[in-house]
Amino acid sequence: MSRQPLRLAILEAAKLLEEAGVPSPRTDAELLAAHVVGVERTRLGLVPLVDPEVIERYRALIARRAERVPLQYLTGVASMGDIDLQVGPGVFVPRPETELMFAWALAVLEGHPAHPPVILDLCTGTGALALALANARPDAIVHAVELDPAALAWTRRNAEARANEGDTPITLHQGDVTDRSLLTELEGKVDVVVSNPPYIPEGAELDPEVAEFDPHLALFGGPDGLSVITPMVSNIARWLKIGGAMAIEHDDTNGGQVAALLRERRVFGEVAEHPDLAGKPRFVVARRVATDAEAARGH
Ligand SMILES: C[S@@+](CC[C@H](N)C(=O)[O-])C[C@H]1O[C@@H](n2cnc3c(N)ncnc32)[C@H](O)[C@@H]1O
Repeated sequence: MSRQPLRLAILEAAKLLEEAGVPSPRTDAELLAAHVVGVERTRLGLVPLVDPEVIERYRALIARRAERVPLQYLTGVASMGDIDLQVGPGVFVPRPETELMFAWALAVLEGHPAHPPVILDLCTGTGALALALANARPDAIVHAVELDPAALAWTRRNAEARANEGDTPITLHQGDVTDRSLLTELEGKVDVVVSNPPYIPEGAELDPEVAEFDPHLALFGGPDGLSVITPMVSNIARWLKIGGAMAIEHDDTNGGQVAALLRERRVFGEVAEHPDLAGKPRFVVARRVATDAEAARGH
């Protein structure tokens, strides 16, 4: 069979994805074509004709995307900062909105004194935030915590891949971020905590890509979305140095509650809400301040 125009296949694919209710049909059609052909999306125009078996493989992927399998499960890759992460069944796919918290952490670390900063990523999933921060700040000591063994297998794979690329290795801990006895060795030692925990209120309506493919443990935080965040906040107070900073991503419906949770504890100050790209409240930041007793002890 003769070679076939890729552009035509992309147009057909975009139509099919649109009919299937995929939110960004043209983008996904192009990204999957780029994946199959093995070029950057911006260079698809340089590939006018492809072999029939390429079209066949492309159509098979498009059919799965039309079934609402997440795009990143089909390409096997997601990104955070300057790094790629391997993703697939069993692990939460890192989202673009979390890039904002990553940028916030980098900005906080920018003004950091010379000693190696200690960073803690809670609920790390693929390791997205921990590994992107280790990549951007090779001087940092990065710890990451994940509870789910299935997710942790992906974290390990990604951590190994980044270390092979020459990034400073991170330290992974399997544990529950709500456990009061977790990581006692890090008490008062952490400069920056970042966390994108499970935060969706149970029963919320979700796109099929999320509801059917992201692990349940990665998504839901009890009836109000705060069942992990509330106890985790007490642990963050324990781990942060006085003056250290933290950020927690949250649902757009419960940002006020997370900020209130932090404000009502005397150990946190400078509580501030950050919006996402759509202008919705998305993550809350705060600084660990000294209590009166700590101040009296000279902290
Ligand atoms: C929303 S995902 C975020 C993953 C990653 N931080 C990211 O931004 O791509 C939340 C992650 O927290 C993990 N998790 C859920 N409950 C946890 C707990 N109590 N302790 C530690 N990890 C937990 C889930 O398995 C999942 O990997």
